[in-house]
Amino acid sequence: MRYGYFDDTRREYVITRPDTPLPWINYLGCEAYFGIISNTAGGYSFYRDARLRRVSRYRYNNAPFDLGGRYLYLRDQDSGEFWSPTWQPTRRALQEYTCSHGLGYTIIASRYASIAAEVRYFIPLGENLEIWQLNLKNEHGHPARLSVFSSIEFCLWDAQDDATNFQRNFSTGQVEIEDGVIYHKTEYRERRNHFAYFACSEKPSGFDTQRDTFLGPYRGWEAPAAVERGGCFDSVANGWAPIGSHQIDLTLMPKETREIIFLLGYHENPADQKFDPPGSQTINKKTVLPVIRKYLVRSNANAAFEQLKAHWDELLGTFQVQTPSADADRMVNIWNAYQCMVTFNMSRSASFYESGIGRGMGFRDSSQDLLGFVHMIPERARERILDLAATQLPSGGAFHQYQPLTKRGNNDIGSGFNDDPLWLILGTAAYIKESGDWSILEERLPYENEPGTETPLYEHLQRSLGYTLERLGPHGLPLIGRADWNDCLNLNCFSDTPGQSFQTTTNKDGKTAESVFIAGLFVMAARELAVIAQRGGLREEAERCLAAAARMEATVLQHGWDGNWFLRAYDDYGHKIGSAVCEEGKIFIEPQGFCIMAGIGLENGHALKSLAAVREHLATPHGIILQQPAYSQYCLDLGEISSYPPGYKENAGIFCHTNPWIMIAEAMAGHGDEAFDYYLRINPSAREEISEIHRCEPYVYAQMIAGRDAATHGEAKNSWLTGTAAWNYAAITQWILGIRPEYDGLRIDPVIPAGWQGFKATRRFRGNTYVIEVKNPSSLNRGVKKLLVEGREIPGNLLPAVAPEAAVIHVEAVL
Ligand code: GLC
Ligand code: GLC
Repeated sequence: MRYGYFDDTRREYVITRPDTPLPWINYLGCEAYFGIISNTAGGYSFYRDARLRRVSRYRYNNAPFDLGGRYLYLRDQDSGEFWSPTWQPTRRALQEYTCSHGLGYTIIASRYASIAAEVRYFIPLGENLEIWQLNLKNEHGHPARLSVFSSIEFCLWDAQDDATNFQRNFSTGQVEIEDGVIYHKTEYRERRNHFAYFACSEKPSGFDTQRDTFLGPYRGWEAPAAVERGGCFDSVANGWAPIGSHQIDLTLMPKETREIIFLLGYHENPADQKFDPPGSQTINKKTVLPVIRKYLVRSNANAAFEQLKAHWDELLGTFQVQTPSADADRMVNIWNAYQCMVTFNMSRSASFYESGIGRGMGFRDSSQDLLGFVHMIPERARERILDLAATQLPSGGAFHQYQPLTKRGNNDIGSGFNDDPLWLILGTAAYIKESGDWSILEERLPYENEPGTETPLYEHLQRSLGYTLERLGPHGLPLIGRADWNDCLNLNCFSDTPGQSFQTTTNKDGKTAESVFIAGLFVMAARELAVIAQRGGLREEAERCLAAAARMEATVLQHGWDGNWFLRAYDDYGHKIGSAVCEEGKIFIEPQGFCIMAGIGLENGHALKSLAAVREHLATPHGIILQQPAYSQYCLDLGEISSYPPGYKENAGIFCHTNPWIMIAEAMAGHGDEAFDYYLRINPSAREEISEIHRCEPYVYAQMIAGRDAATHGEAKNSWLTGTAAWNYAAITQWILGIRPEYDGLRIDPVIPAGWQGFKATRRFRGNTYVIEVKNPSSLNRGVKKLLVEGREIPGNLLPAVAPEAAVIHVEAVL
């Protein structure tokens, strides 16, 4: 069952009924000011950091889930009837409803009582504000006397404190109202130099800024007292819960249309120019008013919207494909790339599943996310790498996350995840392959952001490798530490106390438990660093990296191979995890993917055996499960993984992030049909028709789909902020379609279904645009036999990087 449809030409997903199984959301903003918006206008906004600079409130865990947002109310002043054109919060049955989520904007259109309404929400480029453009049309045969009520509930900035520190917060709220603009200035009198504002293009006939006056005692957002009675109370918030609401009265003649613009924004003043006049407590509005005035003008708002569209066209234009699969095209050309940009901005911090309070930018997560956006915004990828590296510890280890506002690492969600530092090598390698910019390695960066400790980035990467080598266990495999990629395989935790955090508790000294996954990751990273060292003329270092990789590979083959698949780990007792000898958790997906991607077992047949085992034990129609059999009970020695009921999350869920590793491994083995088959199983567009089972948005990947052991097998959760986005993008574009940036150029090595007659792609790469046509006349999976560049055949399958001339280069590849 579907709840909408893809409009590929407009690059939108159009939702046709408001009661989607879960809030189907979109992101607004791509620079500093951001918002989350659901298909019923639920959600919230923030400036740069969802925890420390939250502009509007949102309650997680609410009932309904999707409540709190950018709401408007329309009231027919003659009949007294009122409704919300975005359905929520009044939930009046609308006669028509569509929500079009586009790239950086959302348009909700509806009709009720012969009033057509459309609201367009977006954030202009380069500004810290959002525009709500409301268009109304009277479709009655008689004049309509309407009142429009806007509403936003302000957050008192620190989202965590806002939700907990009531003894203080019920007394701090402050607003100013001037010329119809509502200013939220809580804590502005003291150390904050920022405020929020809510403005409107029409002269309001009333306003409210005190939530409980607007709503009335014991009432919620579905029927505010002000709306019900048809008039605001002109309340001024002193403490309690500051909100913004404007009342606009208008009469629309038959067929008449009217546009009203609302602006919600964030603004900073220099510390010594906060007040006007100086010495007063009145906000200095000199720099904010020009911005407000500008965007309350319709033509300026429309121009900003066109710029936003052009911005996305430009970004997505980096890579466009035409394949025999509409699901692949739509994801590659639009939604997967878009999701990658969202993970660039948010990492794992803010979604409807991530409260923006608990997690900042993950070290491991952000390094992997790079793989999905580096081709669109190489300069910002560069900056991200430098930010991450500057938080690295002198030991080569990493903070697990940093706060975007301060760019400082912290241990709030644990430390000592021994895989963390290695991802930085892969991220940096991806950046150099895309950009050809070797100079990044010479950038001098501190450790722990401590001035005076700077070394070139190259040394940071070296220390990353060293960190693993200095932490090997009894079998010579890397010690797992807190956990590896699988946050929930906590082999040193041994927690038996309710509520203790698996992420921060350690009861073992951590000198025994080892990870085969990290071993695979290490081999891959060490080989990348060897190439990088070699290029830098550091031959000996290159050899040392290669030797370390070879030793680790040999160790994996000796102690990490279980006979039919790669082992997962050794626990604190030195027992195997992910082995046929185990009762549960006999086989795990992660080492199969990573060892093969690192090249281990490709020559001796292990890779093929491992892939066959994945197919036999882990593959389901909804994707590939993380491990089998699921752990049926809590195991002290395994940690959080066994805390989840079978089939969910890390305990045998389909953890989508890992599926592309198998797709890539299949592609490396030359299995184009298998790789693409796995690709489609979790492709959200391909799952659109089972939306009632999948439940999450059909246009973006979710972190998890419930596994075979779950009561709700096939149900997705935690959409949007997941490494699934970047890895799937890499799997389909670089390994299946096989258009892969390498240090010296663009490799063309498709591994596709034999049934495909070919495909076309346009790829911008280092200043030129390659228009590529792949032909598959002999129905093969792989193997470029002939490569023509501008009609001239060249040997091999690498398009050598050439001078950036903004030229169009035509390429034909024949399998
Ligand atoms: C979450 C984390 C990621 C981790 C994964 C598996 O997605 O953000 O860092 O690798 O879970 O536990
Ligand atoms: C929980 C989640 C896991 C996530 C981790 C880090 O363990 O299950 O997926 O990565 O928290 O916050």
